[in-house]
Amino acid sequence: SNPSLLILPGDGIGPEVMAEVVKIIDWYGAKRGMAFDVSEDLVGGAAYDKHGTPLHDDTMAKAQEVDAVLLGAVGGPKYDNLDFSVKPERGLLRLRKEMDLFANLRPAQCFDALADFSSLKRDVVAGLDIMIVRELTSGIYFGEPRGIFTEGNERVGINTQRYTESEIDRVARAAFELARKRGNRVCSMEKANVMESGVLWREVVQKVHDADYPDVELSHMYADAGAMQLCRWPKQFDVIVTDNLFGDLLSDAAAMLTGSLGMLPSASLGLPMANGRPKALYEPVHGSAPDIAGQGKANPIACILSFAMALRYSFDQGAEATRLEKAVEQVLADGLRTADLLGEDGVTPVSTTEMGDAIVAALDAS
Ligand code: NAI
Ligand code: MG
Repeated sequence: SNPSLLILPGDGIGPEVMAEVVKIIDWYGAKRGMAFDVSEDLVGGAAYDKHGTPLHDDTMAKAQEVDAVLLGAVGGPKYDNLDFSVKPERGLLRLRKEMDLFANLRPAQCFDALADFSSLKRDVVAGLDIMIVRELTSGIYFGEPRGIFTEGNERVGINTQRYTESEIDRVARAAFELARKRGNRVCSMEKANVMESGVLWREVVQKVHDADYPDVELSHMYADAGAMQLCRWPKQFDVIVTDNLFGDLLSDAAAMLTGSLGMLPSASLGLPMANGRPKALYEPVHGSAPDIAGQGKANPIACILSFAMALRYSFDQGAEATRLEKAVEQVLADGLRTADLLGEDGVTPVSTTEMGDAIVAALDAS
């Protein structure tokens, strides 16, 4: 049977950028004989409007069954005053939690045509291609005890950084597997100098390496030094593996080395299913962009590159993923820019659909 894909466009620009991805999916069906069983459903505010919940149980069940979920974005001002339990982002959090998506892959890739767009010098970022693997389901955002407690005559806010050996082990394996398909190097980041969880992190990553991935080059770095090195000379890295908190910060910083939020894809992977494919959710890094929603201005590339990641990591179609990335690179080299990619040079921006159509045309020419 065909590989299955659940599409959750969500809110704001989510449906606009997803419509362009659907064109790409259709192209693969028509021109490359790669048919997907695609189903579509609601998430976030759109699901709340219809069902009173940001993720219906039936949608959750479907997400557990398919080979990959592709999500647009959730949220918007209309939902800002909703109760916490039904806020749009709860739909996304539920997907991540129940699918147990522990490895968050955030590539920072700089297309040559956009190198001058970076806040860093061209030679520092041109050709940059690194991958940050952030642990996503544990650590300080989840550890107990947590809360605001009263201690004596004042309050104290508490979060707990907590990692088990198995949690570190599985995300380390994800990073080593990835490295083997890329530049074969992993840099693990923690703060073993001041954190017990960091000491354990370093030890377990090293142990997994020595036992099962001795062919991959492994280094360790303190996360604060890592942040400096990312800004100084990011091309020294291939895969970076780090915990939830440091990964949150480092991946956002690395993302900005390469330019616009409208360009950044992500994947969140879990354990393998019965068919050997990992549980997987692909989504652009950006949100629902209410300031430009409905105006045809959104850059669809982040969502399109998220589908490229799905081709590579869920469907074993690495060559086709590269084909799609090259098509994106081609339209950028041709000078096409959505409004978010404009500098001061007076280029007229293209719309969301024009960008999508141009990428399809570049695929046709590939
Ligand atoms: P945002 O990412 O939606 O927008 C930030 C800025 O970047 C805006 O100026 C927006 O116009 C621009 N932008 C974002 N994506 C773009 C694209 N594809 N093309 C062109 N420009 C783009 O973040 P913001 O404004 O903080 O949040 C807006 C809403 O999105 C909120 O409700 C927030 O909760 C939600 N959100 C959802 C996320 C998700 O679904 N994963 C992630 C982040 C925010
Ligand atoms: Mg963040």
